[in-house]
Amino acid sequence: MRLTVIGTGYVGLVSGVCFSELGNDVVCVDKVSAKIDMLNKGRIPIFEPGLEELVQKNKNEGRLRFTTDLTGAVHDSDIIFIAVGTPSLPSGEANLSFIEQAAEEIGRSMNGFKVVVTKSTVPVGTNEKIRNIIQQHTTCLFEVASVPEFLREGTAVQDTLYPDRIIIGTSNDTARKWLTKLHTPLTDNIIVTDIRSAEMIKYASNAFLATKISFINEIANICEKVGADVTQVAFGMGSDKRIGPSFLNAGIGYGGSCFPKDTQALIQIAGQMDYDFKLLKSVVEVNRDQRFNMLRKLEAILGDLRSKTIAIWGLAFKPETDDVRDAPAFEIISALLRKGAVVRAYDPIAADNFKNHFQGAVEYCVSAQKAAWHADALCILTEWKEFCDTSPSVIQSWLKQPNLIDGRNIYSEEDLAGTELNYYSIGRPNMNKGVRVNDPVLLQ
Ligand code: UDX
Repeated sequence: MRLTVIGTGYVGLVSGVCFSELGNDVVCVDKVSAKIDMLNKGRIPIFEPGLEELVQKNKNEGRLRFTTDLTGAVHDSDIIFIAVGTPSLPSGEANLSFIEQAAEEIGRSMNGFKVVVTKSTVPVGTNEKIRNIIQQHTTCLFEVASVPEFLREGTAVQDTLYPDRIIIGTSNDTARKWLTKLHTPLTDNIIVTDIRSAEMIKYASNAFLATKISFINEIANICEKVGADVTQVAFGMGSDKRIGPSFLNAGIGYGGSCFPKDTQALIQIAGQMDYDFKLLKSVVEVNRDQRFNMLRKLEAILGDLRSKTIAIWGLAFKPETDDVRDAPAFEIISALLRKGAVVRAYDPIAADNFKNHFQGAVEYCVSAQKAAWHADALCILTEWKEFCDTSPSVIQSWLKQPNLIDGRNIYSEEDLAGTELNYYSIGRPNMNKGVRVNDPVLLQ
């Protein structure tokens, strides 16, 4: 099939490349010519395992092109995917201006029947707006559909090529047939819904996963008070098929480009319909507070943080990505600086995307060792493999004071055996080592 994908961010680029891998002719379009130039030279603007190789392969085999020429791309395609960003407005609502602009340009470029598919996460009713905008700019026949994307950064290629399900939101037969044919090589589990339900499925799925994370983080906080171990609790809970084991890792809260934005947007969508989504508001609040769990521990161990050197390992919102959007590291580092701490940070690949935010106030180090060297405490914010593979006894030998706050529960009891670290993780009070404060409540 002949496809255009508008927007070469995570969703657009990965979807376009994967569709070409399935044998379709794909043109990826972006307004930013620097991005297109880069892609044409075979380099990719984001870090995503496996993506660069797939871009090269499909470009070389002639199925994948990159251009700024939206009109030419639309002319040559049967299906057009809109995969542009929907960033948050200050109110939390999704900003639809890129979507609206894309719809208008598609309308102006139509030269025959096309199916226009939204992959971006958009509020319920947006596809109808897209239909109206296109209609105002063309006399050609077309159909709209919603096919939301569920890929995760870091495993985006795998998630796209092996999805759990594909949701196709349309009430039109041709759109259903074309989109079913396009996605059949990926999975048997294709679910066809009406457009509004498809739009809602994306928000509801992300909000539910965010809820699972905030839930287990609150359970972790209670575990710290009652002396239970949240990893054992999560394992026990997750073994019930109705609950499932995924998204039950306690930590310092979710970040990234989707959960924070989509939870806020769903609260807004509900609010506009006079519905107070109390549960989701609490999920967001719990997530905000969870970032400070490790700060409370740090202060309990070190007291006043003024002039203390705190090493930070991990700036990306999760491993295997250079994305720092809404990463917990922002709030944690801001709070440390406010309290007068000296902050040294290291991330295997995301530091460049983080650097301009603290204008010289943070020292960015070229290695994990340099960041930890003679620090008063080390905080682990992202569970990069490099950190998991570094033994706590080595960490201890690097630190001035042996204080390790593990915000992602990466170390086990065996890893810590033989060390004299003051070790604190999330929701595992029995793993705390070298407690220096008498009152455990201080640690919560
Ligand atoms: C998410 C959804 O998973 C994906 O379906 C959607 O399309 C986009 O948003 P992504 O943001 O890439 O994907 O990352 P994900 O792996 O879901 O993690 C999101 C955040 O939750 C990360 O900050 C991660 O550290 C945190 N998380 C995840 C936890 O704290 N605990 C968990 O158990 C799982």
